[in-house]
Amino acid sequence: MDRIHVLYPEKIGVISKDIYGFFVETIESLLAGIYVGEDSDIPNIRGIRKELIEKLRAIKAPLFRWGGCTNEVYDWRDGIGPKEKRPVTLGLAYAMTNRPQRNDFGTHEFIDLCKLSGADSYITLNIASVQPMDAYRWMEYCNIPRGTTTMALLREENGSPEPFNVKYFGVGNENNEHGGLMSPEDYSAAYSRVSSVSYAALRDTNLIASGPTWAEANIDWTRRFLANYDRRGKFSPWHSQKTSYAMEWVGRKMDAFSIHHYAYDNAANGNGAVFTEEQWYEALASAMKIEKMIEDYASIVREFQPTPTTGISIDEWGLWTTLKGGGPWTEKPMLGQVGTMREAMVAAMSLSVFNNHCDVVKLACLTALTNYLHNLFETRGAEMFATPTYYVFDMMKEHQNAECLRTVCAAETKNGVQRVYTSASVKDGKTLITLVNTDYSNENEVVVELHNASFPGEAELTLLAADDPHEHNSFENPENVVPVKSTIKAEGGELKIKMPKASIMCLSF
Ligand code: AHR
Repeated sequence: MDRIHVLYPEKIGVISKDIYGFFVETIESLLAGIYVGEDSDIPNIRGIRKELIEKLRAIKAPLFRWGGCTNEVYDWRDGIGPKEKRPVTLGLAYAMTNRPQRNDFGTHEFIDLCKLSGADSYITLNIASVQPMDAYRWMEYCNIPRGTTTMALLREENGSPEPFNVKYFGVGNENNEHGGLMSPEDYSAAYSRVSSVSYAALRDTNLIASGPTWAEANIDWTRRFLANYDRRGKFSPWHSQKTSYAMEWVGRKMDAFSIHHYAYDNAANGNGAVFTEEQWYEALASAMKIEKMIEDYASIVREFQPTPTTGISIDEWGLWTTLKGGGPWTEKPMLGQVGTMREAMVAAMSLSVFNNHCDVVKLACLTALTNYLHNLFETRGAEMFATPTYYVFDMMKEHQNAECLRTVCAAETKNGVQRVYTSASVKDGKTLITLVNTDYSNENEVVVELHNASFPGEAELTLLAADDPHEHNSFENPENVVPVKSTIKAEGGELKIKMPKASIMCLSF
């Protein structure tokens, strides 16, 4: 029996809604799930799939990041203006080389996806193959007020007079590798050029420094980057002062530093539907490395303090089932993956870890929204279904903007994975507790003990479980795995619950 302590007097901080964000990249099959075109028979709003928008609104999707390696070979000017005039270019990122790209999903369409879903936007700037002024112009095009500059006029001519108010801009993507093979010192120079030349346009937006690929192994790259960034500008008298005025004067801005973390099992060469019990635990253990990474990265950020409030952004995360096997890079759908209960488990555990580190984690984006890696939805023409991971985001959505309570998990460890993961929060007087039973084959009795609080007599319970951890949804059986709601008697300071094997539960009261 495992025991969860929920410590009401101890609040970790407010869980930013942006921790529940999603990643979108210019990958043909991924975009086909989102953008169907205005003339499509598939119901759409200005070309964006209508059913998708409705489903995203239902889970209060807060943020989309548009980026990845594809943005490092992307010229934003190819994706604005009338569709028929947009150039056809080659998708130059990794295995997409030589595949034509029509550019009909560009900045306006991305912003439409965000606005229609009620979400904020995060754009990754290209820094490896363009000049800082090109990156700056993209920011200006997005955020400069109506009627000011030629960029504002151009945006208006393209149908959007009002600024997009992009909330976050990322400076590059994985620049130690695909994004220009930069040394930490090269990246520090590139970052500083973009941040200092574009400060005027950035004032009200957030700027995110790009972390390396394999963040787990490349912590040294990060340390060297931050050390170099710290020394940079030493000829300015403002350099060593970390006041906001000094920062503004030299245009030093770093609202977050990003981590990318993909979990995998030791085979990692399948489409996700087939795995053994051993691979279940390998994948979960790999996903949970994120906790130490957050702590390690946060401590380097605290050591160098690029700005007093720099946080951590988990720009890309999820389970990547083809990571070692090469995978269907060139097949369609490229890097398509079946979302089973294993993905749902990784999602619930990861979101719990992000919640519990909300004092430093400012945002996070799951890879990806549609038809790609650890996705929320699969589409085929007009058809669409939600994966179990979608329902995890639904069950946990009320953690957004809630105060996170400290929890202590007295749980056994099985095959290197803690048997129970949890996080708890309070919003408007209502508590939400998420519990994850990671045990592949056994149910688990869990005691939830509230400190300085009592259960009110009854609690709402939502359960996501399946008879077999391999279960998933499909076009043929789109609601095979869906959450089930009920109520349970809950009074006093303790509640004993039986959790089915490999299940996720949310209690609210
Ligand atoms: O799509 C996943 C890719 O993985 C992203 O482009 C890149 O940032 C990461 O290496």
